[in-house]
Amino acid sequence: MRVTLADTLPAATACDLLALAVPEPGTLAGDAAAVDKQLGGRLTDAARADGFTGKRGRTLLLHALDAPFRRVLLVGTGRGGDAEAVRRFAAVAARQAGGVQAKRIAITAALDGGAGGPGGAPAEHVRAAAEGAGLAAYRFDRYRTADDPALDETVVLARGDRGALTRALRQADLAVAATGRARDLVNEPANVVTPTALADLAREIAARDGLDCRVIDLDGARKMGMGLFAAVAAGSEQPPKFIVLDYRPAGAAADASRTVALVGKGITFDTGGYSIKTANGMMTMKGDMAGAAAVLGAMGALKDLAAPVRVLGIVAATENMISGRATRPGDVVRALGGKTVEINNTDAEGRLVLGDAVAFAVREGAAEIIDLATLTGACVIALGDYTAGLMTNDQPLADRLLTAAKASGEQLWQLPMYDEFAEAMRSDIADLKNSGGRAAGAERGAAFIGAFVGTTPWAHLDIAGPAFAEDRKGPPYMPLGGTGYGVRTLLRYLEAGPGK
Ligand code: BES
Ligand code: MN
Ligand code: ZN
Repeated sequence: MRVTLADTLPAATACDLLALAVPEPGTLAGDAAAVDKQLGGRLTDAARADGFTGKRGRTLLLHALDAPFRRVLLVGTGRGGDAEAVRRFAAVAARQAGGVQAKRIAITAALDGGAGGPGGAPAEHVRAAAEGAGLAAYRFDRYRTADDPALDETVVLARGDRGALTRALRQADLAVAATGRARDLVNEPANVVTPTALADLAREIAARDGLDCRVIDLDGARKMGMGLFAAVAAGSEQPPKFIVLDYRPAGAAADASRTVALVGKGITFDTGGYSIKTANGMMTMKGDMAGAAAVLGAMGALKDLAAPVRVLGIVAATENMISGRATRPGDVVRALGGKTVEINNTDAEGRLVLGDAVAFAVREGAAEIIDLATLTGACVIALGDYTAGLMTNDQPLADRLLTAAKASGEQLWQLPMYDEFAEAMRSDIADLKNSGGRAAGAERGAAFIGAFVGTTPWAHLDIAGPAFAEDRKGPPYMPLGGTGYGVRTLLRYLEAGPGK
């Protein structure tokens, strides 16, 4: 689906569906009022008849018959409203388009149902509108032999500075495409997205965008001392891959001296190992590489975005399987850097591969580390299905990430990192154990990873909830299955050029 800009009045826009944002109390103003007038007041009449008052989430669909637009969709946006309200409005419109076989839709960029007042539409709103529509139009239909026709084009109606609006559209486009690639990776089954497939994809990104790419295999990882990563991979027939992408910025604004490491949990399937999951608990575990998908999605957009800092993309990719060679509960292994770990639960494998991965990032000279991982069910219990947990050893880094998340509309909430969480991860027979019990499960998991970052500023995003949608009760731009959570926050964070 492509997104284009137009500054024609909605009333003159030829399309299959014209979506107008209508705030409470549902009075049509500005451009929406002009459309209503063009239709002889039928919008107002229908709104009154159906009790449509602009409440957030409510919609009203009408046939426009002989107007240039075939249908009009009123979307309630409630009171107030920010860029996220625009994003959700646009998503509702794009989703409805599917239901009426629309190929071309038009949406207004302003929340008052228009294309922006005299000053034009804010670029942030145009960006949000394009993102909302683009994200909602996503489909994973590779394995479906017959499907409804897809939406071809969304026209964002916005007046204002053409240059600024075009830039906003392009940023949205890059974010939507990167998110789509991350979603695809999560939606692809584990027999397709293997560690080898992730490594191949990383090499492709590198070749296309001029990044460096290193892929370390099991032997190499063992030789380097990555005993945690190797312990998780031990039971798997699929060869594990430790993947390192290196993006160096070009141009005047570039600051190659400052390296941000993005680290992704890349468990392409998590059975739990000998601490085996239930059949139900395993159902969505092809998505246990969503952190890796977010990292690869973001890495593939950095060149087009002209991100101004050096970025290392590190993906620890392996399955977590069972075999005669698999790690047993109670086994003790040695991490990169020398710390010993008693693996008291083989299902707490994410923190194991991440422990080695963040230690690797420190060795590579990262000035800050951001890891993304579907790490704990506990985080889902704490924050729900649509919100990621943020844990950190550096509040300024956390604050910058929270700002980026807020701007992107990705829900992120900080959890504490009290000393007692690290204490809970101490083993009786080794330096650490990898499972510390049920209480504060997300924080204790984070504390385990934190033991391997030392003093490097580090933020851990537990995305177990929002990475994979099992229902459609979240934001309207969240599809079923892989959501690509994290990509847009990362790109927002990196496009700005992270703080020093
Ligand atoms: N991949 C799971 C976490 C998960 C659960 C992600 C549900 C998405 C949805 C992770 O590897 C895991 O199994 N974590 C354990 C940790 C425990 C053994 C300390 C968990 O959350 O139960
Ligand atoms: Mn697990
Ligand atoms: Zn896992």
